[in-house]
Amino acid sequence: MDRLTITRPDDWHLHVRDGAMLESVVPYTARQFGRAIIMPNLTPPVTSKAMAASYRERIMAAVPAGCDFTPLMTAYMTDGTDPDDLAAGHAEGIYTAVKLYPANATTNSAFGVTDVGRLDPVLSRMAEIGMPLLIHGEVTHGDVDIFDREAVFIDTILKPMIGRHPDLKVVLEHITTEQAVEFVKSAGDNVAATITQHHMMINRSDIFKGGIRPHLYCLPIAKREQHRLAVREAGVSGHKRFFLGTDSAPHPVHAKESACGCAGIFNAPTAIEAYAQVFDEEGKLDNLEAFASLNGPAFYGLAPNQSKITLERGETAIPETLELAGGTIIPFMAGQSLNWRLAD
Ligand code: DOR
Ligand code: ZN
Repeated sequence: MDRLTITRPDDWHLHVRDGAMLESVVPYTARQFGRAIIMPNLTPPVTSKAMAASYRERIMAAVPAGCDFTPLMTAYMTDGTDPDDLAAGHAEGIYTAVKLYPANATTNSAFGVTDVGRLDPVLSRMAEIGMPLLIHGEVTHGDVDIFDREAVFIDTILKPMIGRHPDLKVVLEHITTEQAVEFVKSAGDNVAATITQHHMMINRSDIFKGGIRPHLYCLPIAKREQHRLAVREAGVSGHKRFFLGTDSAPHPVHAKESACGCAGIFNAPTAIEAYAQVFDEEGKLDNLEAFASLNGPAFYGLAPNQSKITLERGETAIPETLELAGGTIIPFMAGQSLNWRLAD
């Protein structure tokens, strides 16, 4: 197959930041995707429907003319989240979902949740109104090895939480382990997962190939090869509860190439091309549309996009650096190329 036309995809997990960075990165996503779930981890985080509504306006203002792109907003859950604000924001169409960061798990998560158990009243309300909870699934205790944090989260936090809220819609974001794959497969139809292209393409050894490669550092960190293979297999399988979420997370180069570099991979510019390459390598191009364009909307209770995109076999070269108004960024696979491209 050398040409593939599919329903326009959506990105179910995306960071676009704010200000000049937002204006620089939104066009990359709007070029290919119809919608994206926007992460709320700004400083300060998006914790009210008024903040979400004005953030949505700033994103819309950065969408290039001619692109039909809709940002889907999320609320940042804190220990003090007000269930009435969530419910009102959901009813008014401002919030699509709520994001749970365990406190200090990752970039701008200092205001995250310190004890998930105390949020049971909020989770009950969300289950009642069908509002999904999107989870950064890592424990944060310093005594848990960084490569075990997802699996430990699933066992010690997520399984008990779903036990207490069996009807809550949950998306386990950017899964990286075979334990996450198994957990999602064995859960009910209210539990799904997003998968990034980088977690299908790199393992933890790649982060240290020939030296330390800060641009491959993200959280959850890539795991050993057996986990990459499990995540990749799940993604290309066509299973309806795995879908596309890039976790594209731009940081200026100085923040990545530093004695204490930030977590985050900027993969938005060539996202759908990279996924197409993975599905092609696995002989599963037939499942790309389900993963990228159909499974996500079905889970969220939305219609698929009406427009289509066409991918064709052919080179997409990825620049070494992007000089953007928001700063200089080194994109995922900088200086390399992909063998699929978007046809105009
Ligand atoms: O690598 C990451 N970067 N993981 C996250 O969870 C947050 C993100 C960011 O905002 O930079
Ligand atoms: Zn993220």
